[in-house]
Amino acid sequence: MASFPVFQLTEGEWTSSKFIEVLGLKIAPRLTSDPQLLCDFITNFQTRPDDVFVVTYPKSGTTWVQEIVWQIFNEGRVASDNILQRVPFLEAATSARFPQPDYNTLPSPRILKTHLTHNIIPKSGNEDSKCKYIYIARNPKDIAVSFFQFEKSMKVFGHGFNGPWEFFAKLFVEGNVGFNFWNDHVLGWWKHKDDPNVLFLKYEDLQKDLLSHVRMIANFLNKPLSDDLISRIAEQCTFSGMKKNAASYEIEKADEGKTSLLRKGEVGDWKNYFTPELNERFENEVLAKLKGSGLEFDFEI
Ligand code: A3P
Repeated sequence: MASFPVFQLTEGEWTSSKFIEVLGLKIAPRLTSDPQLLCDFITNFQTRPDDVFVVTYPKSGTTWVQEIVWQIFNEGRVASDNILQRVPFLEAATSARFPQPDYNTLPSPRILKTHLTHNIIPKSGNEDSKCKYIYIARNPKDIAVSFFQFEKSMKVFGHGFNGPWEFFAKLFVEGNVGFNFWNDHVLGWWKHKDDPNVLFLKYEDLQKDLLSHVRMIANFLNKPLSDDLISRIAEQCTFSGMKKNAASYEIEKADEGKTSLLRKGEVGDWKNYFTPELNERFENEVLAKLKGSGLEFDFEI
C-alpha cells in the first residue's frame, strides 16, 4: 500500500507551501484530492506514439512551449481558450477543483503538460511506439524568483507559502518546493537529451533565437512548416505577442480573481533579488551539482 506523506515546513511565523508526496514528488494539494488516484493515473497512463509531452521543472517556460507546440499543430491559429484546456496538465488529472478532460478520448495528437521527472513520466514499453518529450530547462536563479512570485500571487488555496523571499530561496535550495530539487529534475532529463524522442531546450536559448527554436520544435514533431508560418508563430509567441492574448494564460487564485502565467518574461530578473551571500549559496549548493555534466546556463543575455 503506497503512502502519501503530507509535508509543510515552518520557521517562526513563516510556512512553506503544503505538499503531498506522490511517487516521491511534492505535489500541491490543489492538484489532487485523492493522491492514490493520481498515483494510479500516472502509473497506468497509456501513452500513444503521437503523444507530445511538454516537460519542465515549474516556472521554466512551460506555458511558452505549450503555446508554441499547440500553434505548430494548429497552423499558427491564436486561440482564446485557456492554455490548460488546449494542453492539459497531467498532474491535475484527478483534481476535483479544475475540470479535466477524459485522457482516453482526447483526440490525437495529445499535447500534454507535465512536471514529472524522467524516472516517473509515462513511457511506452514498446521501442517502436515511443511518444515525444520536449524538455525546457531554465537557469535556477530566475526560476526561484519566478516560483516565489507565482506562489505569492496564487495564495495557493489555503495551503500557501507565507514568508519573505529569503525563506523561499532557502526552501528552493533545499528541495522543499513543488517537484523537489531543481538539479535532480534537470539532470535526470539531461541524461536523456540524446534520446531520439527527447528534445532538450533551454529557456534562455529560446529568448536568444525564437525563430530557430520554433523551426527546431516543428521538425522534431515531424511538422515541417513554411518559413512564413514559422515566422508568424515565432512572432505570436514572443512575450508581447502572448500578452495580447492574456486571458488564455490566466488561472484561478485561491481567493477571488485570477493570476497570470506570464509575468516578466526576462532573463536576469534574479539580480533584483539575490544578495551576494544567496548567490554564493546557489553557486555552491545548486549549480555545483551540474559540474561535469556539460549542462550550463546563461544568467543574462
Ligand atoms: P517570469 O516569472 O520570470 O516572468 P511556466 O510557464 O513554466 O510556469 O513559466 C513561467 C515563466 O515563463 C514566467 O517567468 C513567464 O513570464 C515566462 N514566460 C511565459 N511566456 C513567455 C514568453 N512568451 N517569453 C518569455 N517568457 C515567457
